[in-house]
Amino acid sequence: MRSAQRRAALVTGGAGFIGGHLVERLVADGWQVRVLDDFSTGRESNLERVADRIDLLRGDVRDTRTVARAVEGVEVVFHQAAIASVPRSVADPIGTHAVNTLGTLQVLEAARDAGVRRVVYAASCAIYGDGSELPKRETLPPRPLSPYALQKHAGELTCRLYARLHGLETVALRYFNVYGPRQDPNGDYAAVIPRFITACLAGAAPRVYGDGEQTRDFVAVRDVVAANLLAAEAEKASGCVCNVASGRETSLNELLALVREHTGATAAARYDPPREGDVRRSVACLDHAQESLGYAPRVALREGLVDTIASFAAAARGSFS
Ligand SMILES: NC(=O)c1ccc[n+]([C@@H]2O[C@H](COP(=O)([O-])OP(=O)(O)OC[C@H]3O[C@@H](n4cnc5c(N)ncnc54)[C@H](O)[C@@H]3O)[C@@H](O)[C@H]2O)c1
Repeated sequence: MRSAQRRAALVTGGAGFIGGHLVERLVADGWQVRVLDDFSTGRESNLERVADRIDLLRGDVRDTRTVARAVEGVEVVFHQAAIASVPRSVADPIGTHAVNTLGTLQVLEAARDAGVRRVVYAASCAIYGDGSELPKRETLPPRPLSPYALQKHAGELTCRLYARLHGLETVALRYFNVYGPRQDPNGDYAAVIPRFITACLAGAAPRVYGDGEQTRDFVAVRDVVAANLLAAEAEKASGCVCNVASGRETSLNELLALVREHTGATAAARYDPPREGDVRRSVACLDHAQESLGYAPRVALREGLVDTIASFAAAARGSFS
């Protein structure tokens, strides 16, 4: 796969929401891209714009031979594959552990064997749990509140261990609440931005759990992709764990007001009881990401929402986003 001119990357979970955007950007930047995905939540439509320019491997990150094949000739691995669901991890801690924790170990071990230069790992702000300290800094003690958060933290620690023990360069990125075109709006635990947009476009009542004054740090998928590219290159970043976020705190009521403004929706919101385990406030400190990776968010929430709403509206009309 390696050629003199083109650099080779593997994106695990490349058919997913974030992975698909990352693959498109890597292809646009001239990388030779291989995707490993089992399509459990990933979709072919996430890759349709680049389908003829990538090497697509259908397979499972739990499978040693498949992963060994996937990393062959690769310089950088972007490890996005996971069962990215808190409730699923509560319902099936062993099955999700196999994918999220052991799958990550498989990827690191195969990368080490194959002489991959760097692995960039998709970690999560779920690791912070419900600690009251704000903003969230990477030095805070982890407080996982779900098997998912624990598994993501284990993946992060394993990345760091491989950097120290084996000299495999690794960078873990703690994504906060990522949003953007093509994010799945379906299911009870779908992310809030696609849920609000879909409801508002359909003229239905957006559903809010709790009083809507809980806050989140919403980061555009474009910024997450940019952080991954920086993490692939940044010198002296190996072994680092960095927040990837907007650094802005937004309440769900503020978010809903923006979505209404840009969709012209008028239906009143429906306020349901708060969900157990939901964090009250969340916002990231980005100092470490800035120092270690040179990362700074570029997409303001208003701008990112306009793009996302346009893509959802286009999809609802049956055209491409
Ligand atoms: N979306 C967010 O806000 C967010 C926040 C924090 C962290 N993350 C992390 O970012 C990564 C991508 O998340 P996403 O939102 O794009 O989710 P997603 O579900 O759209 O993507 C995950 C991808 O992994 C694939 N996958 C799952 N199990 C697999 C297996 N055993 N073998 C191969 N492929 C497998 C899925 O088919 C899917 O394409 C995940 O690691 C997730 O934990 C996401």
